[in-house]
Amino acid sequence: MAADGGMTARQPAAAPKAADGAREDTAPRRERRVFIRTYGCQMNVYDSERMLGALAARGYAPTDRPEEADLILLNTCHIREKAAEKVYSELGRLKPLKAAKPDLKIGVAGCVAQAEGEEIVRRQPAVDVVVGPQTYHRLPELLMRAEAGEKVVETEFPAEDKFDHLPAATPAGRRVSAFLTVQEGCDKFCAFCVVPYTRGAELSRPVEKVLAEARRLVAEGVREITLLGQNVNAYHGAGPNGRDWSLARLVLALAEIDGLDRIRYTTSHPNDMSDDLIAAHRDCDKLMPYLHLPVQSGSDRILRAMNRRHSADDYLRLVERIRAARPDMLMSGDFIVGFPGESDADFAATMALVEKVGYGQAFSFKYSPRPGTPAAGREQVPEAVKAERLAALQAVLAEQQRRAQEAMVGRRVKVLFERPGRLAGQLVGRSEYLHAVHVEAPAALMGEIVEVEITRSESHSLAGRLVA
Ligand code: 5AD
Ligand code: SF4
Repeated sequence: MAADGGMTARQPAAAPKAADGAREDTAPRRERRVFIRTYGCQMNVYDSERMLGALAARGYAPTDRPEEADLILLNTCHIREKAAEKVYSELGRLKPLKAAKPDLKIGVAGCVAQAEGEEIVRRQPAVDVVVGPQTYHRLPELLMRAEAGEKVVETEFPAEDKFDHLPAATPAGRRVSAFLTVQEGCDKFCAFCVVPYTRGAELSRPVEKVLAEARRLVAEGVREITLLGQNVNAYHGAGPNGRDWSLARLVLALAEIDGLDRIRYTTSHPNDMSDDLIAAHRDCDKLMPYLHLPVQSGSDRILRAMNRRHSADDYLRLVERIRAARPDMLMSGDFIVGFPGESDADFAATMALVEKVGYGQAFSFKYSPRPGTPAAGREQVPEAVKAERLAALQAVLAEQQRRAQEAMVGRRVKVLFERPGRLAGQLVGRSEYLHAVHVEAPAALMGEIVEVEITRSESHSLAGRLVA
């Protein structure tokens, strides 16, 4: 799920055309290159692609080698302390490149940029541009100011909609699976979370814009779309007649697009798992049976302290209803251990909830106090206790994942082949349940959805063979 690491190189974008009526620039201009490193969630991956699109229009081609870049962008994550600290160490490593190449510009984008603003330039003067997630459409203009020698810090929440100004992502090469942001920001204010501060208030994109982007992706060869939002199931975008649509209604409309075969969405809040969305899991074949539904804790006392506004029992009953609609649903979740005030009994309640749900996959974290959030000032659980609880929880989650994978052996699944495997003659794709599946298959099956029998479960993937 995490996207740490440089974006893979895409084919160079086409050279920018001169605007109609403008004089063609005949002097050969060296193509400029941009390197983007993406941290954190899938929304950052999507944002990085949109930034590459905005920069391609200004003549920047992507590179996967920071040494040859004219612009280095770190698209950052602020969700936990380690994530933010990684950014400062990476900036420290990049600084010498600037000594070798004085024209090199370094930019920090994403949630650390939003949260830290000016502080980044103070702490690491090699940084030229700091740009928050709401102002990516202004990136080309901000770069021009940086090229003129200004230190640029742009972390406003502007009135205009950035999606209207950002060109569509332009990754070259055939993609079969793509992200599409439909909702951004969060109004829930969980006591541990920086998202409401870094990504701002909940905002849904209008239905027509989402459908148009989906149609364009499908025309480019995409067969699977994952709808993204920090609170994606709270989606309430304006429909064509001005009335708001729910996520379920949006999913059903997307399912009408010919050539779009799979729809997923992430991340959801239990309280926004509406009846129509649960029903869509029963009625819509294109909606995949994998659901990431974070609960964070199994203790009602801690859930209250976290401001989650639901109990452990609410969550368990919800999972039951979801499984009644779609019995083979693979459940995924997020957990935080060592939230302020968490006792041994609270932690035991989390372990009990995990046993009851039976996750196919899950993410778990030690609580990390984030400046400016309500829980940061509360009395903290000792680090050693957090570490012990995390290890215990992860052992159980890993065992559940192993069992869920073992249960696939002998079953037939449909795999959408996405890329070549590590071994010659192999392709890798995803099953309906989001398991990575390695199969010996001809390259011609790339981009196809094919029936596969699972033959083996490996540590983080499955192996299978084509069904004749
Ligand atoms: N400390 C630890 N984990 C956190 N998460 C969010 N904020 C924090 C924090 N301060 C986790 C939650 C969330 C996931 C994206 O990151 O589990 O669902
Ligand atoms: Fe953060 Fe999710 Fe809670 Fe919103 S719902 S505050 S994004 S954890």
